[in-house]
Amino acid sequence: MASKGLFITLEGVDGCGKSTQADLLVDALKAKSREVVRLRDPGSTRLSEKIRLMLLDPANKDMCDECELLLYEAARAQMVREAIQPALERGAVVVCDRYTDSTFAYQAGARGLSSELVQAANGIGDCGVTPDVTLVFDLSPEEALCRATSEGTDRLEGEGMAFQRRVREGYQQLAQKEPDRVRVIDAVGSIEVVRTRMMSALSDVL
Ligand code: TMP
Repeated sequence: MASKGLFITLEGVDGCGKSTQADLLVDALKAKSREVVRLRDPGSTRLSEKIRLMLLDPANKDMCDECELLLYEAARAQMVREAIQPALERGAVVVCDRYTDSTFAYQAGARGLSSELVQAANGIGDCGVTPDVTLVFDLSPEEALCRATSEGTDRLEGEGMAFQRRVREGYQQLAQKEPDRVRVIDAVGSIEVVRTRMMSALSDVL
C-alpha cells in the first residue's frame, strides 16, 4: 500500500507509561495541525474491542497460547482494515498504542512461542501494514508493575514479574534487530522528562 500518512506505534511492558505519552504525542501533533488517529491494539473497532475483553478477562485462565496469539491477530486485522488503512490513505498520522512488536515481546518472548510462528501470524494480522516508527518505553518491570497495579490487574498483568522481564528482553531484541524503526526511550523520570525524550526521538519524522 502506498500511504501518504505516518504510522507511529508505542510499546513497552505493562505500566511503562506509554498511554500517557501517546496522549501527549497526539496533543503535539494536533498543535501542528495534523489529522491524528489514536488507536489501541487490541481494540479500537467494535469487533476488536470485543476480542480485547476476551483476551484481558482474568477469568479466561484456560486460554492456550495459540488461541491467544490468533485472537490478538484477529483483533489487529480488523483494526487495520477498518481504521489504520483508511487513515493512512487520507494522509493522517496514526498513533497506535501497541502493535505487532507486542506480539513478539509477549507471545514469543514471554510465552515462548517460536519467533517464526509469531512472524507468520503477524504477517496475517497486520495485513501488510507496518509502522514507520516504533517507540519502546523502557522501564524495569518492578517500577512498571507498581504503576500498573493502581488501575487493577488484567489477565496479562497478572502474569507477574518474571513474565514482564521476558517481555522487556523481547523488546530489547527487537530494538537491536531493527534500530532504525525501533527507538528505545528511557521511561524513568517524570512525565515531562519522558515526553521530551519522546519528541526528540521523533524529530526526524515529525
Ligand atoms: P494494554 O493494557 O497496553 O492496552 O495491552 C493489553 C495487554 O495485551 C498487555 O498486557 C499487552 C498484551 N498484548 C499481547 O500480549 N500481545 C499483543 O499482540 C498485544 C497487542 C498486546
